[in-house]
Parts: sequence; structure tokens; C-alpha cells
Amino acid sequence: MNRSHGNMPVQAVIFDAYGTLLDVNSAMAAHAADLGPQWPRISADWRAKQLEYSWVRSLTGPTHHEDFWRCTRAALDLVLARHGVRNALLRDLLLDAYLRLDAYPEVPGVLRALRHAGIPAAILSNGSPWMLDTATQAAGIGLLLEAVISVEEVGVFKPDPRVYALACRQFGTAASEMLYVSSNPWDAQAAVHHGFQTLRINRDGAPDEYGLAAMLLDELPDLSRIPELAGA
Ligand code: LAC
Repeated sequence: MNRSHGNMPVQAVIFDAYGTLLDVNSAMAAHAADLGPQWPRISADWRAKQLEYSWVRSLTGPTHHEDFWRCTRAALDLVLARHGVRNALLRDLLLDAYLRLDAYPEVPGVLRALRHAGIPAAILSNGSPWMLDTATQAAGIGLLLEAVISVEEVGVFKPDPRVYALACRQFGTAASEMLYVSSNPWDAQAAVHHGFQTLRINRDGAPDEYGLAAMLLDELPDLSRIPELAGA
């Protein structure tokens, strides 16, 4: 897929955080020796269960909301039990590592290029504000972001439409004038339906989902072309 982009430059670039800017597998990768060779499977299960908990909480209704940190912690406890990992210290180290995930290597350069071009970059994420502050500072990208928007402002998780409306409100701009970037297909499809020009990052060549291929601005193997596509 390689569609040309008609209305450059965009007014802002909105990034998903976990899995898009931040490598969610880096927490368990850092403790691979203690987790054993099945660590990639445990990491994938952690992510899947974390998201399941977020969706179930949102669908159950506002009184059932708990922030993303609680979803993340509860998911870790479940998957460690399921995989027979009984090590309280390791559990705490994994949670701490999740707060300081590695950014993908190209992230700082991409954000600097956007800043240099005067195109605001922001995060729109399920993460709670303090999680996102900790993560962006640890990754050294806090000062390169114009805004860090958390779903906690509306108390419901992605892909609820109220979340995507926060980005429009932040910049006073229509979704169609902003670029939305996500490696999560379920997130990208919601952004498309909200009217954003949407890019899916697909690092592993995963198959198409939600009919995204026909609706995306483009699908990319990493973030390096974002400044160019944003009109920088
Ligand atoms: C986020 C997760 C869902 O950052 O990737 O919103």
C-alpha cells in the first residue's frame, strides 16, 4: 500500500503509546533470563489480557472503570499464575519495567523531525497520566510532545469514540486534518471511523484486520516515514 497524501501538511500527528511508540515486550525481554524461554508467549498473554480487562471494564459501564495501571497489574498477576511463575520480586520488577518501556529506536528522531517542521505531535493513550509521564520521561521524549492525552479525561478506554474526540478538542482541529498512528489494528480502525487520516504500523507483517487495508492512508513497517507523510 502506498497512497499519496493530498493535503499536506497535517495539523498534528497523534500517536498511540503502548505498542506504537513504546515496545510493550521490552519489560519481559529485560527479564527473559528469569522468565525462561517462554517469555515472548507470557508477554503476548500479558498484553492480550491487559486489553481484555480494559474492554470489559468499558463495556460494563462507568462504575466499573479502573485505570490502565490496575488493568496492567491484574493482567500480569493472572498470566504469571497461568504460566506458573511464582516470584513476587520478579512480578514487581516487571511492573517497574512496564513503567519504563523502551521506545522504538526511531522514535526520538521522528519526534524531533516533526518538531523541527512545526507539526505538533501528541500521545493519545489508554495509559493513566502518571504512567504516560513516567514512560515519556524515561524514554527521553517528554519534551518532544506537544500534549500527552490520557483516556482518564473521559474515564473510558479505547476504542470508545469519546477518547478520539479528545484529540480533536486538544488541537481544535477536525480529525481529517490530523494523522493518527497506531500499531494496534483495533485502535486504527476506530481512528479511521472517527475521520482521522490513519497509518497502521505493522512491524511483523501481520495480516490485515477490520478491512483496514482499504481505509488506511498507508501501512508502514516502522515510524521512520511519518515526518515525510505528515508533510514535514
Ligand atoms: C494505548 C494502548 C492501547 O497506548 O496501546 O492506548
